[in-house]
Amino acid sequence: MKLIIDTDAKVLEISDKGQVRVMPLYSKEAFEEISLQWLKVGWNQKYPYTFTWLGRPIIQIPEDIIRIQEVIYRVKPDVIIETGIAHGGSLIFSASLCKLMGKGRVIGIDIEIRPHNRKAIEQHELYPYITMIEGSSTDPEVVKKVKSLVKPDEQAIVILDSCHTKAHVLAELEAYHDLIKPGSYIVATDGSMKWLHDVPRGKPEWIWDNPSEAAKEFAARHPEFVIEQPPWLFNESELSKNITHWPDAFLKRIR
Ligand SMILES: C[S@@+](CC[C@H](N)C(=O)[O-])C[C@H]1O[C@@H](n2cnc3c(N)ncnc32)[C@H](O)[C@@H]1O
Repeated sequence: MKLIIDTDAKVLEISDKGQVRVMPLYSKEAFEEISLQWLKVGWNQKYPYTFTWLGRPIIQIPEDIIRIQEVIYRVKPDVIIETGIAHGGSLIFSASLCKLMGKGRVIGIDIEIRPHNRKAIEQHELYPYITMIEGSSTDPEVVKKVKSLVKPDEQAIVILDSCHTKAHVLAELEAYHDLIKPGSYIVATDGSMKWLHDVPRGKPEWIWDNPSEAAKEFAARHPEFVIEQPPWLFNESELSKNITHWPDAFLKRIR
């Protein structure tokens, strides 16, 4: 595929498999096409590895952080469960929203919580909102432990950001979906791997082996869930699509 950004003619020209599309450079369509390339180049440059939240590295782009904030504030869950702790930034982010909302707590699971990360999270001002569990997110003992920490009438949001193979994410979706009540979401992050298979740091198999494929297969098996981009709560633009590393991520429980 070839993209030509012509700032003189103010057009974007895309040539793909013998087809040529020309669109106004400052259009919605051009913004979406250029954003996809921006995501790919940025990921290859490790742009998502450049942010912190209240002092802890958070491996996300700001767009996804703002969008999940919109969901968490709207749903106001009793508990936010996250697989994949890494440096703890996303746990601290969720905990900060719980503190601001005056509601909620956070459970984080990671197969390996490195001692320096554990120490930094335990010493953080927001640690009282957080419980950490070490082990694989799909280990039945870990799943049991997580569920023992959630009361039957509590609303949860579950964010899956651990191992991103299709098989693992599908197993996580099967293991945790029953914690979600109607109106809330289980979120299979990093489906952008399907777009990253051909960048230098990517892998060819990511074209099929990715969280987006897991979410689609899960939704086909579970009609009580639909893949839905959460509505934008404010929008004075003509735009409608998230600029995101989380395509097809939000599985909403509808009944
Ligand atoms: C992308 S990082 C998480 C980033 C974090 N959520 C954030 O936003 O900053 C992925 C983490 O998943 C963990 N992980 C990998 N396989 C796992 C598994 N089977 N179960 C639980 N955690 C796993 C890794 O140890 C790593 O810390």
